[in-house]
Amino acid sequence: MQHQVKDLSLKDAGKKKIEWASQRMYVLNELVRQYVNEQPFKGVRIGMSLHLEAKTAYLAMALKKLGAEVSITSSNPITAQDDVAAALTEYVDHVYAWRGETPEEYEFNHKRILELKPNLIIDDGADLSIMAIKNEMYYSIFGVSEETTTGVRRLKALEKEGILKFPAVAVNDAKGKYLYDNRFGSGQSVVDGLIRSTNSMMGGKEAVVVGYGWVGKGVAERLRGLGARVTVVEADPFKALEAYFDGYKVTNMEEAARYGDLFVTCTGNVKVITGKHMLNMKDGVFLSNAGHFDVEVDMAWLRENAKYLGEARPNVSSYMLPNGRRVYVLAEGRLVNLGAADGHPIEIMDLSFSLQLQSALYLSENRGKLQNRVYNVPEEVDKKVVETFLDLNGIKLEKLTEEQKEYLESWR
Ligand code: ADE
Repeated sequence: MQHQVKDLSLKDAGKKKIEWASQRMYVLNELVRQYVNEQPFKGVRIGMSLHLEAKTAYLAMALKKLGAEVSITSSNPITAQDDVAAALTEYVDHVYAWRGETPEEYEFNHKRILELKPNLIIDDGADLSIMAIKNEMYYSIFGVSEETTTGVRRLKALEKEGILKFPAVAVNDAKGKYLYDNRFGSGQSVVDGLIRSTNSMMGGKEAVVVGYGWVGKGVAERLRGLGARVTVVEADPFKALEAYFDGYKVTNMEEAARYGDLFVTCTGNVKVITGKHMLNMKDGVFLSNAGHFDVEVDMAWLRENAKYLGEARPNVSSYMLPNGRRVYVLAEGRLVNLGAADGHPIEIMDLSFSLQLQSALYLSENRGKLQNRVYNVPEEVDKKVVETFLDLNGIKLEKLTEEQKEYLESWR
């Protein structure tokens, strides 16, 4: 998604976007201020695979300011913004990303990062980490810091099989991340992607949110706030009951497919919306995905069985099903918030990327002392980032008295 400021070159348009984000990332700026004299990443090569939009670019620049040699590619073939990538070439060492990479180009760009022999990896979805292991290109790596639910799931699966080759930090599992980024970040940015791509009214729509984890919760909440009638589809009985008590209609996909106007998958699983479901849908529905991979809406079935009618609008692909009805797929079934919008809001990424920076520091400081396991972000680091955010955003925190602290710890 390119929105170039009028009359600016690609590079200058990217610089403007980065500048805008940089002025609102208070915590990240504060961390740079605190560490810049120390140069804690001096001599450290950092390889990044993250959605290359303005906030990500600013994280890369922050790491560079702290002494690292920084190289970056995008963690999804359609989420690099070309103007941002062009601008970033002036500030970090290597930028290998563009929007619309083929699978081969995506792999090529990741391999180029690994060929630079990174010491630290900052990953989103674990593709770079897994490619390092598969291709035996992990010897230089002393730690990985992972952004997402999907990436952490994959790293834990590697750990379980005993083939994780470096320590990893699960940034996603920090409270300062999943409680805000996954819920409020996705809540707003997914709806942003739906609106920008379709220019449609959310109010009055039958919206179907598949998956009621933190992402699904945020998306359902924000869609309801805009007046959509929201149905939640869940396989987990506890989450289904939670959605029901939250006031949503809860049903299975087979039933929801028949009446939904727009669908958002938020499960992290495969084939959540299948060809069979699509054949039961109304004419002209919107299909979208908020999960990391483009496997939740069965795009392979669609490409094989439906006729592609072309792009109806930017980021809206039109398909004619064998039964003559049309479906519109947003952002090719990839992350709609990054494919059709700018990702999470700046304030949210300020928290998440500050946790990334702190986790990278933790890995660097503990080089050689950690095992090849998935670690949580240390609690004090998680708390520091959130408290700094509150402080810099002028939000006052209540302080417990000694009497209150003692009371909470006593049994009387
Ligand atoms: N911007 C950069 N990385 C992102 C992510 N993982 N989710 C949403 N927005 C982002």
